[in-house]
Amino acid sequence: MVTISVWPLAVSAARLAALKSVLSDDEKERAGRFKLEAAAREFVLSRGVTREVLAAACGCTATEIVLTIGARGKPRLVTPPSPLTFNLSHSSGYCALAVGAVPAIGVDIEALRDTVGDVAKNVFSAREVERYATVAPADRMRTFFRGWVAKEAFLKATGEGLGGGLKSLELHLTTAADIRPLAIGGDETAPSAWRFHGFDVTESIVGAVAIKTDGQEVEVQIRRIEAE
Ligand SMILES: CC(C)(COP(=O)(O)OP(=O)(O)OC[C@H]1O[C@@H](n2cnc3c(N)ncnc32)[C@H](O)[C@@H]1OP(=O)(O)O)[C@@H](O)C(=O)NCCC(=O)NCCS
Repeated sequence: MVTISVWPLAVSAARLAALKSVLSDDEKERAGRFKLEAAAREFVLSRGVTREVLAAACGCTATEIVLTIGARGKPRLVTPPSPLTFNLSHSSGYCALAVGAVPAIGVDIEALRDTVGDVAKNVFSAREVERYATVAPADRMRTFFRGWVAKEAFLKATGEGLGGGLKSLELHLTTAADIRPLAIGGDETAPSAWRFHGFDVTESIVGAVAIKTDGQEVEVQIRRIEAE
């Protein structure tokens, strides 16, 4: 089972201070380096609640959680020892955190908005562009961002980030929650180890989770929580 916790990035000053107190010294230092106060608040609120959710899943306190950061910035749980992997995304006033006992996981959320120019060619492979051209105009924006978040979630699951190339994962573009991968790095057998699931944070914010499963089916549950 993979659980995606979703919460709004808005809390009282007292709650924000409480969340800051559970951060590690490195995290507090990072929070202090943001130039914009809003960005610092977003970091404290997303990382603090992430610690609380992981602590509840592991049966420890939020301060006992120890994270390490990979070469390209992906945080990973090291203490307590656990089969759980996690990933988070924050955007447009919301945070989504995916947690599960799976080999790798990535999540991304994005607000729907008009895209500029012929951006689809930079994001989609040739066959995805072909399919995108057949999508009804009313479904275009949601289809574009559903594809975008699924691709970014995949690149976050591998830990490569955007440097891994949005075109490395090819999808059957859709607005639906069930996202079918077509190929990874041109290999049409590689997707059998992955599951993709789309979800809506709000009417205007879409998300997707990419789960490396080594083949088995995984249930995905969306849980809306209050950060306060
Ligand atoms: C990961 C990445 C795709 C996220 O982009 P984004 O849409 O702006 O941000 P999101 O809100 O969806 O995700 C951010 C969260 O993902 C996690 N994250 C950071 N780097 C990550 C990575 N490489 N893989 C997976 N998750 C990552 C963090 O928890 C981060 O939250 P935090 O900043 O509060 O710690 C983008 O930052 C990226 O491509 N990073 C790689 C950079 C790189 O290659 N660096 C090389 C070393 S210099």
